[in-house]
Amino acid sequence: MTQVTDAPVKTAKTPTLPDAQKVTEVTHWTDRLFSFRVARPASLRFRSGEFVMIGLMSTDEKTGRDKPLLRAYSIASPSWDDELEFYSIKVQDGPLTSRLQHIKPGDEIILRPKPVGTLVHDALLPGKRIWFFATGTGFAPFASLLRDPQTYEDYDEVIITHTCREVGELEYGRKLIEDIRQDEMLAELIGEGFADKLRYYPTTTREQSPKMGRITDLMRSGEAFADLGVPPLAPETDRAMVCGNLAFNLEIKEMLEGYGLREGANSSPKEYVVEKAFLD
Ligand SMILES: Cc1cc2nc3c(=O)[nH]c(=O)nc-3n(C[C@H](O)[C@H](O)[C@H](O)COP(=O)(O)OP(=O)(O)OC[C@H]3O[C@@H](n4cnc5c(N)ncnc54)[C@H](O)[C@@H]3O)c2cc1C
Ligand SMILES: NC(=O)c1ccc[n+]([C@@H]2O[C@H](COP(=O)([O-])OP(=O)(O)OC[C@H]3O[C@@H](n4cnc5c(N)ncnc54)[C@H](OP(=O)(O)O)[C@@H]3O)[C@@H](O)[C@H]2O)c1
Repeated sequence: MTQVTDAPVKTAKTPTLPDAQKVTEVTHWTDRLFSFRVARPASLRFRSGEFVMIGLMSTDEKTGRDKPLLRAYSIASPSWDDELEFYSIKVQDGPLTSRLQHIKPGDEIILRPKPVGTLVHDALLPGKRIWFFATGTGFAPFASLLRDPQTYEDYDEVIITHTCREVGELEYGRKLIEDIRQDEMLAELIGEGFADKLRYYPTTTREQSPKMGRITDLMRSGEAFADLGVPPLAPETDRAMVCGNLAFNLEIKEMLEGYGLREGANSSPKEYVVEKAFLD
């Protein structure tokens, strides 16, 4: 990883909008993934797991006018944090991320302070064990929820699975889990032994790693449950949140329904909730 925390660099076009927020830190994890932190607007309240619209100014080719170019982003930091963190893909020809990947500390991004989303504790009924299922950048909302004391107060056991193509794509999540296990503030808030409640199950599909395979296949074969030492999900005990690509979301949704879990929403809490990690 490469961390960029050097002196502020002036961008050619700094948005002069009320929603502009200053970048404080940028970390590049792979040539396709980076994370960054920005100042948090004093008035911004959100629930861990929600997403906001963020972006940069861009020039309209037809009119020549500057306008905001915005995309949905999960807030990766927990609701108690002074700053906001985001975990991002770099799409080389992507309208936003082809430029966003070059931000540096001191630059400004646009952040619309209207958080929304379904990956929130409020959308689930009480349970004993919570599963967070992520692929790729779908880890982002769980980076928030995993640092929220409520997650450990509400559940006896917290299991995060993360499936990526390559080992390097797991690094942001791996380091985050390591940091959480050593976090004194979380330990103080939640009490001794909170770190033991947390189970991390990373898998890769296209590069050799200790656990290979899609999480869906590993659950179908029973291997994931055997590895984790837990029974398959049951509506009486288990709750789940899902965030990944569309095919993954659809496949795991069907599996969760097969275990007897029902999809919840803010207005109607049930046993699992789903959100897309990106549109496609
Ligand atoms: C609810 C929601 C939350 C999101 N949260 C995040 C987040 O936390 N982090 C993040 O990086 N993106 C997130 N996205 C995707 C994000 O909104 C943009 O699509 C992404 O930043 C790329 O923007 P772009 O303009 O460069 O390319 P776009 O034109 O938006 O996308 C171009 C293509 O790149 C691919 N792509 C886009 N996003 C991703 C991704 N995250 N992973 C893999 N491939 C992708 C798709 O094939 C897409 O068609 C989220 C999307 C939604 C709907
Ligand atoms: N990751 C890269 O190195 C890379 C490089 C260049 C371009 N891209 C492009 O970027 C886009 C996104 O790539 P990404 O790797 O971030 O995300 P992705 O294609 O959504 O894959 C992320 C992980 O999810 C797994 N997965 C996909 N569908 C699944 C399903 N139905 N059930 C269970 N698991 C499933 C993938 O396994 P499988 O490997 O088995 O599909 C992979 O391990 C794609 O269009 C890709 O072509 C990716």
